[in-house]
Amino acid sequence: MVRPLSVGPYLRAVLWSFLGIRRRESATAEQQRLKPVPLIATALALVVVFVLLLVALASSATAAGAVPDTLGQRALACTGCHGPQGRATPQGYVPRIAGKPAGYLAAQLRAFRDGQRQQDAMARLLVHLSDDYLAELAGYFAALQVPYPAPAPTRGTDASRAMGQRLVQQGDAARNIPACIGCHGTAMTGVEPAVPGLLGLPRDYLVAQLGAWRTGMRVAQKPDCMAMLAQRLQPQEITAVADWLAAQPLPASAGAAARPPSTWPMPCGSTEP
Ligand code: HEC
Ligand code: HEC
Repeated sequence: MVRPLSVGPYLRAVLWSFLGIRRRESATAEQQRLKPVPLIATALALVVVFVLLLVALASSATAAGAVPDTLGQRALACTGCHGPQGRATPQGYVPRIAGKPAGYLAAQLRAFRDGQRQQDAMARLLVHLSDDYLAELAGYFAALQVPYPAPAPTRGTDASRAMGQRLVQQGDAARNIPACIGCHGTAMTGVEPAVPGLLGLPRDYLVAQLGAWRTGMRVAQKPDCMAMLAQRLQPQEITAVADWLAAQPLPASAGAAARPPSTWPMPCGSTEP
């Protein structure tokens, strides 16, 4: 007749050996009577119980204390450079991103990730993010309609300011340079969903962007109207335009125009997202 196995001695034996406790001779004698298969099974069962306990502990710790990967949380990595809520002022170099058209922002994030625009720190942040996630991040900043700070102080001579204003508002038809407002909106606050405004940006940033288009460091959708325009402008014209733009106050309603002009003044791939 087979005697039913009693679990007690097996548990004792396994626990003792796990804990590394040396037993008296009577206990050793008891262990020598145990069968190997149930002994191993008991040991395995105990290991499984410990692992399950650890997993349960770890997951409850994550639920309670760990930082969730939300958009707002990820955006904190951006606001370190772009200012709280992405509202960097025109005083430094880093551009404001709050309230820009969502299609424009998403296109820029893809461009930094894919190398059509150059900013190493941002490229590292964005490298593993999908187009869909970048669109969400863009939507988050586009929806932040927060006030603009005062514009930068005026710079340059009267003549250079007049030159800047003329190029922005009238262009130079003889040299095939349309007015900037023909695409960036009569209020210069951009056009939904993909054309950015030109106000509230640092002067140095504006100069750098037009320079980057001239040298091919910034590339937009073909036909790349901004690259063509930047090449048609003289360096002193770029400075004049940037000086004039950076010193303009924002209109009361700083949002981008909702509707595009009836025709764009020249073919331009990135007027659509
Ligand atoms: C290390 C500082 C830094 C961090 C962090 C950073 N940016 Fe930038 N960002 C810049 C700089 C500098 C530029 C201007 C680059 C250039 O010269 O073209 C820029 C440009 C941009 C632009 C283009 C704006 C425009 O008007 O074309 C967008 C959009 C942008 N950043 C979004 C983000 C987002 C979203 C994050 C967070 C995921 C982020 N940035 C994190 C420094 C940073
Ligand atoms: C034919 C339409 C068109 C005209 C005309 C035009 N732009 Fe643009 N501009 C665009 C588009 C579209 C973009 C967005 C490009 C992209 O997606 O990178 C842009 C982007 C820019 C940017 C980048 C803004 C930022 O936040 O990084 C600057 C600066 C700019 N334009 C300046 C000018 C100036 C100055 C003029 C006049 C000399 C001008 N543009 C005329 C269509 C135009």
